[in-house]
Amino acid sequence: MQAALKIKHPKVVKKKAPVLAIKENSAEYRTKLHIGHTRTCDCGETNINCLTAKEWLKSQIGVWRFGYEGRDIRDKKIHPATFPISLSKKIIELFSHQGELVLDPFVGSGTTLVAANDSNRNAVGFDLQENYIKLCADRIKQSELFNSTRQVAIQDDARNISQYLPEESVKLIWTSPPYANLLNRKRKNKSRRNRDNEQLGKVEQYSQDSRDLGTMSIEGYTTAMGDIFESLLPVLRHKGHCVINVPDMWWENQRITIHVSLIQELRKRGYELRNIIIWDRTNLVNQIGIFGWPSNYITMGVTFEYLLDFWKPPK
Ligand SMILES: C[S@@+](CC[C@H](N)C(=O)[O-])C[C@H]1O[C@@H](n2cnc3c(N)ncnc32)[C@H](O)[C@@H]1O
Repeated sequence: MQAALKIKHPKVVKKKAPVLAIKENSAEYRTKLHIGHTRTCDCGETNINCLTAKEWLKSQIGVWRFGYEGRDIRDKKIHPATFPISLSKKIIELFSHQGELVLDPFVGSGTTLVAANDSNRNAVGFDLQENYIKLCADRIKQSELFNSTRQVAIQDDARNISQYLPEESVKLIWTSPPYANLLNRKRKNKSRRNRDNEQLGKVEQYSQDSRDLGTMSIEGYTTAMGDIFESLLPVLRHKGHCVINVPDMWWENQRITIHVSLIQELRKRGYELRNIIIWDRTNLVNQIGIFGWPSNYITMGVTFEYLLDFWKPPK
């Protein structure tokens, strides 16, 4: 009988699926993250982005408008305060190159991660809430597969971010933080009182965790934001931008100018303010009530928000 031929099969190396989410019980928790952060495009050395002159021209107007698309999360029961993917994509494509690393310290539902995937950028996002991290991972999973970049959501306090990232690895910090404790109260929604309104009388705050910036007074919040952004300076590259989206708000008949508090605080902490862009949200607001008429002129807080553009100064 002939001896059976032994066929040597090549060892099949199974490609490990990249980790999409790191939670408090993960092995990667509070360890250095392996994520790309260098350019993969062939743009000129001093270019700040990969935009063509025509695309650049469109970004020169200081007032921007965006619509939502099917992938955007607008259900306030899933997350109470999301920004559109199109806004996130515009910021990412203005202030980074393909392959570079984007950081969102308050990632919420993961809009920044979805936009980074669309734009072929690596990205990492942090949030305190496990359910938001799971939501981020689900959204990344559904994003483009044929992409050389990686997006990761990490369940941790933004105060711990520097433990995960090498120095000067981040090209852009882009985020919409909580607005102090201004959402931590029952919604009055004056304009919509007489209609179906699921938000009316509800508190739309992310959590009552004492680390959550949405539980803090405006003074405590400003200092906490200053501490967090100062701790991020070493991981941000020189001339790397840091764009923060905030509105101002009304509280006890006072205009709370969150944007002024943040500009002053971040300047004290080593950032330079480069620009202020207005996100005009009038196309997203419908059915306006007659606020204040006829004795007290106020504008609706939700009709515009600020995009505060800082950078880490050159060396
Ligand atoms: C305005 S939301 C971000 C929404 C996001 N841009 C989106 O499109 O879904 C702010 C997020 O900050 C998170 N947060 C609050 N305090 C935090 C902290 N200390 N560290 C990390 N995340 C925090 C909240 O859980 C919330 O999801």
